[in-house]
Amino acid sequence: MPTNPTLTATSLRAASMRPLQSCLLALVVAATTGCGATPPAWFRSNMVEATKQKLTPDQERQVATVLLAMFGTPDDPVAPPETGLDVAKLQLAAGPVRSDIVGRKNGLYREHCAHCHGVTGDALGPTAAFLNPYPRDYRPGVFKFKSTERADKPTHADLVRILENGIPGTSMPSFALLSETQVDALVEYVKYLSIRGETEINLMRAFFELDDEAEGKLPETREFLVGEVLEPVAEKWKAAADALIPVPEIPADLDLEASIAKGRELFYGDKANCVKCHGPTGLGDGQANDYDDWNKSIVEWKKELGGADDASWLSRAKQVLTGDALEPRTIPPRNLRMGIYRGGRRPIDIYYRVHAGINGAPMPAAKGTISPEDIWHIVNYVRSLPYTLDGELGADRPALVRDRF
Ligand code: HEC
Ligand code: HEC
Repeated sequence: MPTNPTLTATSLRAASMRPLQSCLLALVVAATTGCGATPPAWFRSNMVEATKQKLTPDQERQVATVLLAMFGTPDDPVAPPETGLDVAKLQLAAGPVRSDIVGRKNGLYREHCAHCHGVTGDALGPTAAFLNPYPRDYRPGVFKFKSTERADKPTHADLVRILENGIPGTSMPSFALLSETQVDALVEYVKYLSIRGETEINLMRAFFELDDEAEGKLPETREFLVGEVLEPVAEKWKAAADALIPVPEIPADLDLEASIAKGRELFYGDKANCVKCHGPTGLGDGQANDYDDWNKSIVEWKKELGGADDASWLSRAKQVLTGDALEPRTIPPRNLRMGIYRGGRRPIDIYYRVHAGINGAPMPAAKGTISPEDIWHIVNYVRSLPYTLDGELGADRPALVRDRF
């Protein structure tokens, strides 16, 4: 809503002196600035990607036009059938916050998520810059806490769990108080923003591969736009349900003490090498200067810019880095003595984390190096860490709550 700071300030000053007059003035201000009428929301372009790919303004417009035709607007979302998305659910989550004719709440995403994750799902909402870790940018289509193999998308149920539990130890809240239908609609909307965002990135990267004959224009054929750009993204979401991590049962006669001891050995051993990052004490004080993928892409781009000699592009890039990206932050390995697990605290959640690593983060997968039985031993050891303080922490180590991330 456009506001006029001078008028507002004047009316505030008047308010302390002449109540009636100031009231009238406030009404005039409201009438002239159109209080209550919000302009339609719009999706922000992925300016970091556009600038990296050196797109011309005309090429940026081409991408925006294709995206508008495929996905509609934040107030009126549509989805091509290839995405498998349910438009009725999207409409419940999309648009401004309002009640419909039967009193049902609409605009759930903007009510509950957009101030952190942004209207576009680019994690550039007004609250984002103040948070550590930053909210997730859905556009690269990478998710961390899920029951599927590392490179695969999360299942619908994984995202429902995230909304129900929130992400402990971060600012991502739990939405357990929302109804099942509302959570379901929000999950569908996260997928929509993610598919849209990944499609945008694919389109922006496609210019690079055009031959001279194309004259810098993307083909407008269905074969290209749907077959080559959209479908590969949509297919990955559909395949998630078949990519579940297989989990062997824990033997009923498992000796927990022995399992923890074996897990400890593996934790410090060369193969699993958890100690490299989580540190000899498990406080997360090993290698701590790495970034997750979202932050790393900005760090790397900044490095690249150092060698650039095109002054006008460089000044545009600098502008984009200030307006469309947040200052990169490192992702410290977790303090395993805290007993706070972002991806969930059930033994099976920790099994998933160790098996597949954490997608988008430096934590590697143990899959392939460590047998499933041994992964269970490691899980048991990890779960024992918050309770074993007897002399294992060196006297020179800071207190347990060192990790505030
Ligand atoms: C106060 C800020 C905040 C709000 C509000 C918020 N989130 Fe988040 N969200 C976060 C943060 C921070 C993370 C990243 C946590 C991390 O990386 O460990 C996150 C991560 C996520 C993830 C990624 C999970 C994964 O496995 O990678 C999803 C999905 C998500 N949020 C959905 C939502 C939805 C849907 C809503 C609204 C119903 C919402 N969030 C509201 C802060 C927020
Ligand atoms: C290269 C560094 C690295 C190695 C090696 C590593 N981790 Fe991690 N680990 C991390 C980072 C970084 C995080 C935090 C990631 C995040 O929140 O996105 C993490 C997080 C975790 C978590 C917390 C999961 C959650 O839900 O909050 C557990 C548990 C964990 N690691 C266990 C292990 C175990 C066990 C091993 C050895 C098999 C291991 N890690 C090896 C870097 C590493």
